[in-house]
Amino acid sequence: ERTQVGIIGAGPAGLLLSHLLALAGIESVVVELRSRQHCEQRQRAGLLEAGTVATLRDAGLAKRLDVEGIEHGGIYLQYAGERHHLDFRDLVDRTVTIYAQTEIVKDLIAARLAAGQRIDFSITDTSVSDVDSSRPVLRYVDEAGAARAVECDVIAGCDGFHGISRAAVPDVVAYERAYPFSWLGIIADVAPSTDELIYAHHPDGFALHSVRTPHVSRLYLQVPAGEAIGSWSDERIWENLQKRFALPGWTLREGPIREKAITPMRSFVSTPMRYGRLFLAGDAAHIVPPTGAKGLNLAVSDVALLAPALVAWLRDGDPSLADTYPERALRRVWRATHFSWWMTQMLHAVPGDAFNTQLQLSQLRYVTASRPAAVTLAENYTGSAPA
Ligand code: FAD
Ligand code: DHB
Repeated sequence: ERTQVGIIGAGPAGLLLSHLLALAGIESVVVELRSRQHCEQRQRAGLLEAGTVATLRDAGLAKRLDVEGIEHGGIYLQYAGERHHLDFRDLVDRTVTIYAQTEIVKDLIAARLAAGQRIDFSITDTSVSDVDSSRPVLRYVDEAGAARAVECDVIAGCDGFHGISRAAVPDVVAYERAYPFSWLGIIADVAPSTDELIYAHHPDGFALHSVRTPHVSRLYLQVPAGEAIGSWSDERIWENLQKRFALPGWTLREGPIREKAITPMRSFVSTPMRYGRLFLAGDAAHIVPPTGAKGLNLAVSDVALLAPALVAWLRDGDPSLADTYPERALRRVWRATHFSWWMTQMLHAVPGDAFNTQLQLSQLRYVTASRPAAVTLAENYTGSAPA
């Protein structure tokens, strides 16, 4: 078997890459560990930068996004019993859009299959070889149990943090930061209690009120690292959310919790993002803590750089964009890594560290009182900061 680009992983990065390549006449094969249903149901991110929306729209992928996406012109920052609004339209003339990752993945899979793309779901035993030669090989066992070997011009590792691609790059230099807390995230069948997202600093821990649709809310609670979901009953979750968001004259509406899960938090950047004919994109190369809502947006911005680079190389014989892909991608990655770390350390409680708490409150007051400080947050949050 042969293809031009072998793509490992049917997450947002792998699927979008396959789509953008096809628009330029480059063929690919996509292989995925999990089932189609699993990929489409996995609850994750929900907040898109304007640049992410533009990339999807330019690729003809925004038909449903343009109808169902919810545009937000700012966020609320809550601390010390006060809720402050940051107006992104006024500060940086930008907005963000709520549209769940599950929906993006559904739209991408539907678009790929409609175009006759081959996506092999539910595979096992993925491996890559000869990536430093001119004919790298992607091997796996398909759903029916048949061993397959696909000769490729290029292999794209879009297989997320737990994938196999990163390990195929020798002499990796990784940069990492662990955080002593996790996020407990829920999806609740209740109308959001807010028009825009609320990021709340509280002595008991951070809380975030996000939204999915006019009838579905997404909420997060800071919990200690290593916490088991079993020790969080629905009642305990709502009790903590009520306490951390409490504000006189405002009510947090409760509803049935449809899903709950705990996600550990880390910052991680692995370099280089290319070895020979193997290119990494998205979570396969980097992880940010979710506080800045950057993970999905970075996966899309990596691919928006990688796709034209591969097209220039494989179709037009010009390798220069492929050669500079790692360096150009990493500039954005590090900007997002810094912003996500900064938001995380400004908003999460560190028990027993009273000095830290005072620094956080001072920083929050500064960000909500100084226009230049607010602009700094806004241009990073909306994705318009130069990298
Ligand atoms: P992924 O979406 O992880 O896709 C990688 C794909 O590769 C997966 O489908 C996986 O099954 C497949 N794969 C893995 N190994 C192999 C293999 N060996 N062979 C074949 N296929 C393989 N970001 C936010 O901004 N906000 C959030 O609230 C948020 N919540 C998150 C919650 C969780 C539990 C997780 C894990 C991530 C969350 N993120 C969040 C991050 C965001 O979802 C990711 O940044 C985004 O999914 C990255 O897309 P990707 O395509 O690079 O990777
Ligand atoms: C969502 C997740 C985030 O991490 C964030 O900062 C904003 C929104 C969400 O899932 O909606």
